[in-house]
Amino acid sequence: MKTIAVFASGNGTNLQAIIDNIKKNTLKVRLAFVLSDNSAAFALKRAQRAGVKTIFLDPKKFSSKEAYDKEISGYLKDYKVDLVVLAGFMRILSPFFVKKFRNRILNIHPALLPAFKGASAIKDAFIYGAKVTGVTVHFVDEKIDHGPIIAQECLEVKEAEPLDKLEGRIHKLEHDIYPKAIAMIASGGFSVVGRKVVFRKKW
Ligand code: GRF
Repeated sequence: MKTIAVFASGNGTNLQAIIDNIKKNTLKVRLAFVLSDNSAAFALKRAQRAGVKTIFLDPKKFSSKEAYDKEISGYLKDYKVDLVVLAGFMRILSPFFVKKFRNRILNIHPALLPAFKGASAIKDAFIYGAKVTGVTVHFVDEKIDHGPIIAQECLEVKEAEPLDKLEGRIHKLEHDIYPKAIAMIASGGFSVVGRKVVFRKKW
């Protein structure tokens, strides 16, 4: 069984979906720890409630981004982590870290990449007047919201639907798609060819 670590800075609803799926055995991985750069992240509370180890690393205590990421690497090694799962982690990882864990760091983005990159993707798609938006799970590379795409699902933006309703539907889709995508990657039945993630069986 593969071991994962989840990095989160905020509410942690995606973390919760991962924890719930592990409990139901629909996601067969071991969650070693939840790491955060924000001591007030509700994600840490969710982890504690589930009996999962938490690690808070205060960015202010490190001289550089690389020093911070080296500390993270140490934990990943100690806990024999195979996959890093970003779930609302608001720090950009250093090139050193990305290179070291190439095709082993997953991220979820609440839009259909490469459209609407950045931290306010749902709102940006809404304001732009997109008729279709969705969710992307991708590997992390050196550029933001850019690495090879693991999974994408779309939904229609309903006319006259307020932003908060759209946000709710996007988050629901995230909670469905992320545990499935993690399971697919944890199974190891894939290869990365250029930008393409090629699965050996359909899911
Ligand atoms: C999600 O919308 C995710 O796509 C984005 O950050 C948000 C995190 O939400 N990367 P939560 O903390 O999992 O509730």
